[in-house]
Amino acid sequence: MLERGRGSHVWDADGNEYVDFMMSFGALIQGHAHPTLVSVVSEAMSQGSHFAAATSAEVEAAERFRHMVLSAEVVRFANTGSEATMLALRLARAHTGRTKFLKFEGHYHGWYDPYLLNAHGHAPEALGTPDNPARIPDSEGIPLTTFDDVVLAPWNDVAAMERIMHRHGYELAAVITEPLMANMGCIPPRDGYLQRLRELTRESGALLILDEVVTGFRYAPGGCQEYYGIRPDISTFGKALGAGFPVGAVAGPRAILDRMRWSDKMVLHYGTFNGHRLTMKVVAANLDLLSAPGTYRELHAMGDAAIAGLRDVFRRHKVKAIVQGFGPMFQIYFTDRDAIHDYRDYCACVDTNRYSRFVHSLLEHGIYMTPSNGLHWIISTAHAEADIEKLIRAADRACAGLA
Ligand SMILES: Cc1ncc(COP(=O)(O)O)c(C=O)c1O
Repeated sequence: MLERGRGSHVWDADGNEYVDFMMSFGALIQGHAHPTLVSVVSEAMSQGSHFAAATSAEVEAAERFRHMVLSAEVVRFANTGSEATMLALRLARAHTGRTKFLKFEGHYHGWYDPYLLNAHGHAPEALGTPDNPARIPDSEGIPLTTFDDVVLAPWNDVAAMERIMHRHGYELAAVITEPLMANMGCIPPRDGYLQRLRELTRESGALLILDEVVTGFRYAPGGCQEYYGIRPDISTFGKALGAGFPVGAVAGPRAILDRMRWSDKMVLHYGTFNGHRLTMKVVAANLDLLSAPGTYRELHAMGDAAIAGLRDVFRRHKVKAIVQGFGPMFQIYFTDRDAIHDYRDYCACVDTNRYSRFVHSLLEHGIYMTPSNGLHWIISTAHAEADIEKLIRAADRACAGLA
């Protein structure tokens, strides 16, 4: 049980201290209790937390957001990433007049019913073939008819995507994708994959929804769409945007987002806490902090140092493991493979039990991380060289124990 956090460190109920590399599933891009954010919240709270009305705080947050994310002609705030992806699909359906959408195996877009298909890892023999994937709901309680509108496809495979888009593209409201697959650890797109997906969606009239809930404000000021040079039709954000406060956002062109304007045929997006004043204050302050020169260079350098150090530890101990990803987000896979390229590689070739044992051992050496191989290691602006050195020492000891 964790009791408190400061910077890159957390303390449990017994007073034990850990370096945190989980960072609230990546939400805490500024670490715990960042002094600027603490004072912003304290001051804002004393003036009233929320009015369920437009505030200057929301305008300031939106202005900063639009300045950083180039595709955001308009941004709309919600409370979670799940709400954002839910709204994105509704907008896409309203805009195109189509109902079906395509999601990729292994991609998680929140807990809204239609997205919960093959979002978790499963035994390889349960997956069917890439051409005819088995459709596996991730939750009880969802009517199977919900998935009638979902086209399921393997990710990172251009040929498969071309075939599927040829067959279904014309009937799709949207293709939704994470820019890098962040819910099977950290699986970057193959060179040119996202660009080809952009071409195919444009040709078919399906909107491209880039789900940047994990990657947004992490890899570059403008997210992975900036990093990879992709212009989505709609993109969704959460996590790092709120620096620990609950937030989601949908961004895109006015022609699509203006469908939420009041009219008989509007796209409905209600919610008592949308644009919550405290959250908006934090978002604006967080985006100011992230806009400071050198922020992303440092995040990348710190992450790359951790990745290089871990690779060196595994090599010295002759442990078959790869560290995949780059800069502020990465994952360790115990595998014989040189790389994990997709969901099927992950399900078939990664020793998730070994990973869990490794992470439990790191905990004994003062490193806090979740034992789920499907998540990822997060570097925040609060991490320092000493934290990375501690991680490398802990990994060294944990590897000795793995043998
Ligand atoms: C890519 C992606 N999209 C959407 C979500 C949902 O966000 P939230 O947990 O804030 O609802 C997540 C959560 O992990 C996610 O990883």
